Order: sequence, then structure tokens, then C-alpha cells
Amino acid sequence: MEVFSFKLRGAYNMMAKLSQEQLDRGVICSSAGNHAQGVALSARRLGCDAVIVMPVTTPEIKWRSVERLGATVVLKGDSYDEAQSYAKLRCEQESRTFIPPFDHPDIIAGQGTVGMEIVRQLQGPLHAIFVPVGGGGLIAGIAAYVKRVRPEVKIIGVEPSDANAMALSLSHGQRVMLEHVGGFADGVAVKVVGEETFRLCQELVDGIVLVSRDAICASIKDMFEENRNILEPAGALALAGAEAYCKYYGLKGETLVAISSGANMNFDRLRLVTELADVGRKREAVLATFLPEVQGSFKKFAELVGPMNITEFKYRYDSNGKEALVLYSVGIYTDLELRAMMERMESSKLKTVNLTSNDLAKDHLRYFIGGRSEVKDELVYRFIFPERPGTLMQFLDALSPRWNISLFHYRAQGETGANVLVGIQVPPEDLDEFRSRADNLGYEYMSEMNNEIYNLLLRNPKA
Ligand SMILES: Cc1ncc(COP(=O)(O)O)c(C=O)c1O
Repeated sequence: MEVFSFKLRGAYNMMAKLSQEQLDRGVICSSAGNHAQGVALSARRLGCDAVIVMPVTTPEIKWRSVERLGATVVLKGDSYDEAQSYAKLRCEQESRTFIPPFDHPDIIAGQGTVGMEIVRQLQGPLHAIFVPVGGGGLIAGIAAYVKRVRPEVKIIGVEPSDANAMALSLSHGQRVMLEHVGGFADGVAVKVVGEETFRLCQELVDGIVLVSRDAICASIKDMFEENRNILEPAGALALAGAEAYCKYYGLKGETLVAISSGANMNFDRLRLVTELADVGRKREAVLATFLPEVQGSFKKFAELVGPMNITEFKYRYDSNGKEALVLYSVGIYTDLELRAMMERMESSKLKTVNLTSNDLAKDHLRYFIGGRSEVKDELVYRFIFPERPGTLMQFLDALSPRWNISLFHYRAQGETGANVLVGIQVPPEDLDEFRSRADNLGYEYMSEMNNEIYNLLLRNPKA
């Protein structure tokens, strides 16, 4: 039986130290991810009973893979926090041992065996080890071991730029709780790092590199191309960090280790990964060009694109507008050729916008055709819908038909929730009521009204 991540190490190390009496009473943990599988497999090997509490929103593939290892899965609560509260309560009631995902010396020491293996297998010079960081158990364990036996080796953590709890905590000198955590690299989507892991990182870690979702996707693709392995996003994080670090410092000829920490990839997510990988490697740019609705302008546009390879193209005639919007992507080999093409467009007075680094555009707006509209009192929000049946109905019950929905786009992306873009017409006098109804829903949401790309692509200035 395999669990396809390092998380077995910490869980097993802690559980193997339990007394027979503790094993007889069983263990419990809350996790929707790799820790759950680690605890389940360890329990099976040690012959003890394991209860794993997961949020009800956990995709079936995940809880089934835990059940297959023989653990009892309990689906409880809408969020990880609710699942954890229930697990702690049940832990007390049944006198089970709680197995935390990262913040315990035995968990940290177990994850640290990765460091021991690296040092044993690599005796020559080693510049740095890159480690993905969630709650900090893996990096704390590796740093504790490596800094003792090879203090000259740098230990560099890597986090997604929208799940940067450790980077923020280290720079503030205290643990910082994130309000919003990006869920794409779900293995490391942690709101707050551990107390003990933070203490060790403060003392031993040399730095943290932050990487974008696109860069993670590019590293997943690199790994596939080189070894035919498919890593999950958190598993490819360190590779992306090592690459960004080398580029930044112009490093050449040094030995680096990047830890590929997990391969529990949800197959459906590969679609998004392949879409973003070329953007992350800067081999593809996502662009928008405004074309005057006059005869021949389409042809002129094609001439200006010239030798660039168009990989995606969307255009729809807009009977109300004087200019149409073309959304497209082009394959690129150098920054220079992209810049030259943008200059050709500008000098022909075809306003062109580079959307490549705008997530709102890549996740949602590139899928809209129909152009800009004049919609009175439109508010635009990104909602994170919990992935469970009935969510849409619950959302509509709260807000509609009280207010008109003017835009809606959903595209499956992460696993911790569905990222949905919603436009809704709310007159100014209803704003307070709208906010209170939206808050009561309990879904995370954020305004996109100030995103210049929304204003540029979807909003008619007359509205
Ligand atoms: C694949 C993967 N990588 C990295 C991590 C981060 O480990 P830690 O929480 O110990 O920092 C996790 C945690 O679950 C993981 O599943």
C-alpha cells in the first residue's frame, strides 16, 4: 500500500511511540489530505483503530482513499476548522490520541528523516535544500537534522504567494494568521503555521521563496517531461522555488535539492495545470486587443500578430459597440518578440492589454464572450463555493430573486472550494442588506470591482 506523500513519516514516528494502552484506545486526526492517509496506513501497520475526520466538502476520491486503508472516515463540518473541533471533542470523549498534522516534536522528527536521507545519499558539496512549507513540519524536521550535520547547507522554504503564512510569520517575528488562503496547492493551504515548527524555522531556516500558481504548473510539466511523474501542486512547489531562486541569484553549477513531496493529484485538475503551465514558463501570453468595428480590421490585426503562433482566439461581433474585443493567446519564445508585437499593435492604434499575470482574467474573464455591457448598479465578487451538492441553490436562495444576477462563471480549479465569479445588481440603498445576506451565507468572498481588467473587459463605461 502506498500513500504517495512523505506524510507517513511523521504520523508513523509519533504513533510507533505510543504505548500499547494508547494504541488500544485508538487514534484520531482531522485532515482532508495526505496526513489522513499517513495516519490511516500507520494505524493499519500498528494494528490500532483510527478515526479520520474530514469536512463534508471533501471530494469522494480523497475519503475513499483513506477508507481503503482501513480507517473510519467521519465527514463533519463545512471547513477544516469545524472538522478539527469535532475531532478534538471526540478525542476527549473516547480517550483517543490526537495525531496533529505538523506541530508536534515526533511529527517533525519523522518528517526530518527526509533530511537524513539527503545527507546520506549526497556527500559532495550541496548549496541548498528547497522544501515545500504548509504548517512547517517538513521544513522544521529537515532543518533540525541538516543544520546539525551540514550547517553550511542552506534550507530554503517555498510557499505559494497566496498561502504564505510562514513567510509572513518570519518577517513579523511572530505567527501570523492568514485571512484568506489560496487552495490550489491544497497540501500546503494552511492559515497559521505551528508554534514549534515556527520556533525551529526562526532559528534554522535561511529564507522563503514565494511562487505563483503558474510557476507551480510549469514545474509539474517539467517533472512530467523529464521523469514521466505527475506531482500534485504542493509536491512541485519546491521545484518551482528552486528554479526561481536560481534565476534570481544567477546560480549555475551548484548542487541543489528540491523535495517533491507528494503525488496525490486529482486527475480533473490536470486540465488547469496544462492550461497554465506554458504561461508559467512564459511560453504563452494571454492578451486582449480592441478592434474598431470597421471592415478589414480583423485582417489588419492578423497581419500585426504576424509570425506569432496564436494558440487561442475569441471574438464576437458587438452590435452596440464601436470596437470589438478580441481575446487570444500567443506562443512566445522570447520576451522581445512579445514586446515587438505589442508595439506593432500600439503603433497601429489597436489598444492591447497583456493579461498573462492577471488571475481574474485567466480564471474567468477569458471565457466570456459578448463584450462589455452597461449593467446598472452591478457589483462583481469572487465567491468561494464549498464543493458540495446544493451550494448553488443555497446561494441563489440567499440573494435571488431579491437582486438580479448579471454575470456568473464557474470553473473547477482548486479543491478547497469552487472559485465563482458573480455579478449582481444591487442598488446603493440595498448595500447593507446585501452584505449581511452574503456574510450569512458563510462563503468566502471578495470584491473584484477595482480589478482594472474587469473594468476594461466587461464593463461599459456608460454604466
Ligand atoms: C504534498 C505535501 N507537500 C508539503 C506539505 C507541507 O508539509 P508541512 O505541513 O509539514 O509543512 C504537505 C502537508 O500536508 C503535503 O501534503
